[in-house]
Amino acid sequence: MSDGHDAEWWRSAVIYQVYPRSFADGNGDGTGDLAGVRQRLGHLRDLGVDAIWFTPWYRSPLADGGYDVEDYRAIDPAFGTLTEAEALIAEARELGLRTIVDVVPNHVSDRHPWFRAALAAGPGSPERDRFWFRAGRGARGDEMPTRWVSDFQGSTWTRTTNPDGTPGEWYLHLFTPEQPDLNWDHPDVRREHEEILRFWFDRGVAGVRIDSAALPVKDPALPEVPEAWGPGEHPHLDRDGLHDIYRSWRAVADSYDEPRVLVGEIWLPDARRFARYLRGDEMHTAFNFDFMTRPWDAKELRESIRTTLEAHAPVGAPPTWVLSNHDVTRPVTRYGREDSSFDFAAKRFGTPTDLAVGGRRARAAALLTGALPGALYLYQGDELGLPEVELPVEAIQDPMHFRSGGVDPGRDGCRVPLPWARTGSSYGFGPDGGAAPWLPQPDGWGDLSVEAQEDDPVSMLALYRRMLAVRRSEPGLRDGDLVWLDAVAGAPVPARALAFARGDVACVVNLGPDPVPLPQDADLLLHSGDPATRPTSVLTDTAAWVRW
Ligand code: NOJ
Repeated sequence: MSDGHDAEWWRSAVIYQVYPRSFADGNGDGTGDLAGVRQRLGHLRDLGVDAIWFTPWYRSPLADGGYDVEDYRAIDPAFGTLTEAEALIAEARELGLRTIVDVVPNHVSDRHPWFRAALAAGPGSPERDRFWFRAGRGARGDEMPTRWVSDFQGSTWTRTTNPDGTPGEWYLHLFTPEQPDLNWDHPDVRREHEEILRFWFDRGVAGVRIDSAALPVKDPALPEVPEAWGPGEHPHLDRDGLHDIYRSWRAVADSYDEPRVLVGEIWLPDARRFARYLRGDEMHTAFNFDFMTRPWDAKELRESIRTTLEAHAPVGAPPTWVLSNHDVTRPVTRYGREDSSFDFAAKRFGTPTDLAVGGRRARAAALLTGALPGALYLYQGDELGLPEVELPVEAIQDPMHFRSGGVDPGRDGCRVPLPWARTGSSYGFGPDGGAAPWLPQPDGWGDLSVEAQEDDPVSMLALYRRMLAVRRSEPGLRDGDLVWLDAVAGAPVPARALAFARGDVACVVNLGPDPVPLPQDADLLLHSGDPATRPTSVLTDTAAWVRW
């Protein structure tokens, strides 16, 4: 674990993402909770991560898995209490694990007191100014104010009903109607979020993950989205006004003796625009989704790594490496498909998948990302090699599924409650005989459990533990330079392989058909194949770390 006083810990940290609803169920009601996390902190310590990022644990109707926050200063009763959260933050820190919480500045729940007040106060009221209420277009006002398309598909406006029952104004929601967008031109919105940051920083959290961080600022004229737009011209994406917000958040974060950290969820195709959020007085890091969306292809991954490093260098921020999260298809499944790239719009039921191939590649990808400079994010269950679960349609809860008209399986397939034990009614997710988990676990889930993998040296869990231990003990693997290698063991590196040095450690990943020989006398630190073997070359879909 990182040194308790290392102010730069975040530059090369390994951050484990906990989706509280699906991690561990302490009270047996079928939903994961803080009690469950507290019981399982030892797993995270043994895994060797530096910090835990919790997706929203606040009071919420859970219309979007908690990204619809009703009260930032309360823990949802399904998860526990504020006292338990405080205890959890302190206990984790005792184990050397820092805590990062989610903040969701773009929107709140439609049950948030501000939104209720806005609905009650009616058109023209100051309460409505905290949101985006507008009259509809057309003679009867029954056409939505813009044709902006939601990230969850469908429209971004919902019409309200006036107290007298007549149709009223419309309000903007880039996601579901239960997630009204806030108006960041309003001083209350700014003040409130800075207070929320202080509320959690005062409770010892080490930083925040900022949800949908490129969306909160809107062009107040609410124009249509042009067919093509230049930097900063989109009406609700990557607007220049965002930077001032994050600068003031940075000032709040820096005001603590142990400065807090800002991590942005930023989906932007332009790597240079992305890097602007990481200038010295803004966020510390942001999720590098470009890498995650690329297929298992050496050229694609090499290009992504290069672009990422080039874009981060001028602003001096470390890159991040993310293989998955609670929104995307699990790597074991993704890399076992003919099209192994990730695209929200392309998700379909019944996509043929070779889990054996995907599993081998996910192991190699773990070693690849673990060797790259910067911070590493690890989504719960990826250390167990869990596949994406194709759930029965009647079990799905994710609004993305419903808003696609049932075409997109949605995101619940990567949110299935974790298996901790080989057997038991929920494979150890909750107490045996407790309520059924909120999403059904597939048969055989226990074979992938922590218990089943713990003492198996060939398991994904064993690989992750070894990988994180070596990463920790090798100074060359921290944030720093990466040097591409043209040749290994005197032979040119094939086009379908990646080879680079980090200090005196070299990482070789083979995505092609021909074995890539390793130097004969190489000090093999780690490889993604069977640890009982000592390969002299890196085989297809495997990776190795050698002392260079
Ligand atoms: C990104 C989050 O990761 C996702 O789960 C959520 O649905 C949207 N932002 C909206 O808050």
